[in-house]
Amino acid sequence: MARQKVTVVGAGNVGATCAHWIVSKELADVVLVDIVEGVPQGKALDLLEAAPVMKFDVNVVGATSYEATADSDVVVITAGVPRKKDPVTGKFPSRDELVKTNQKIVGEVARQVARYSPNTIIIIVSNPLDAMCHVALKESGFPSERVIGQAGALDTARYKTFIAQELGVSVRDVHGIVLGGHGDTMVPLPRHTSVAGIPVRELMAEDKLQAIIQRTRNGGGEIVGLIGVSAWYAPSAGTVEMVEAVLRDQKRVIPSAVLLNGEYGYNGLYIGVPAVLGAKGIEKVITMDLNDEEKTMLDVSAKAVQDVVNILGY
Ligand code: APR
Repeated sequence: MARQKVTVVGAGNVGATCAHWIVSKELADVVLVDIVEGVPQGKALDLLEAAPVMKFDVNVVGATSYEATADSDVVVITAGVPRKKDPVTGKFPSRDELVKTNQKIVGEVARQVARYSPNTIIIIVSNPLDAMCHVALKESGFPSERVIGQAGALDTARYKTFIAQELGVSVRDVHGIVLGGHGDTMVPLPRHTSVAGIPVRELMAEDKLQAIIQRTRNGGGEIVGLIGVSAWYAPSAGTVEMVEAVLRDQKRVIPSAVLLNGEYGYNGLYIGVPAVLGAKGIEKVITMDLNDEEKTMLDVSAKAVQDVVNILGY
């Protein structure tokens, strides 16, 4: 069987690290795309030259155009501009300006992707995540089960990391889920969090748990505060977990940004919910039985997502 192919658009921190995890796990051949001439080619070559040492038998190439991406099985979109100071004016862009800029970038990328890989599955990583899913859906013309956002895979990973650290147990034994938009209104669900099946509240005091929930919500900001730019190792690991689920048709249950059609009471809005990921993309949305408090938090998160989506002007 021919090897599968994954395109990663945006060869920056997140994109290049996605390529790194994908080839280390020998999941597929990788095409790394960026607009900056030389960067995707150089990073791809550097990664390929690690193959004899790390012993992976997959190929990785870089490009600034889309011909080499043709017929990809999965396309990851990380292209965009981060929120940073304008070197000339010294000002930060407003949220609306940033949304509009990334709308243009993700829109153009999605059109190219759809042209060269009409049957692919798109995983969006570019922020603001939920809004960029709407852009990719519209500009690709794909059905919504083939346009998925990476949000909960990362947020849940952060949540589990902090719980495992606090309890001094293996991350493998921590189970939990984070719903909602990929922002500070996300909804970690302690009622659905366990350590090897034991409810987390039997193991941890409420104040410690609430502190972890708050730290999870601020997980992205914590890294920016330390490094000065946004994170890439955990975001790309979360993304590659989704890529693997699709390539290997694993039917993994991964919280993902999905276009809801009535589930959880929302219509036509991308929001993070548990979903079954397999070869067809989103194969099923799982509807959880939320209590009033959890539903209220999800409503707040959905409102925050809707406010950003409104800026798109669709
Ligand atoms: N086509 C292809 N690549 C593009 C385009 C475009 N139209 N526009 C920008 N890029 C590239 C940039 O040249 C850069 O290499 O996207 C890359 C973005 O990389 P970084 O600035 O390093 O950003 P990164 O940290 O990787 O984050 C990417 O993921 O987690 C989100 O918030 C994050 O939206 C951001 C995205």
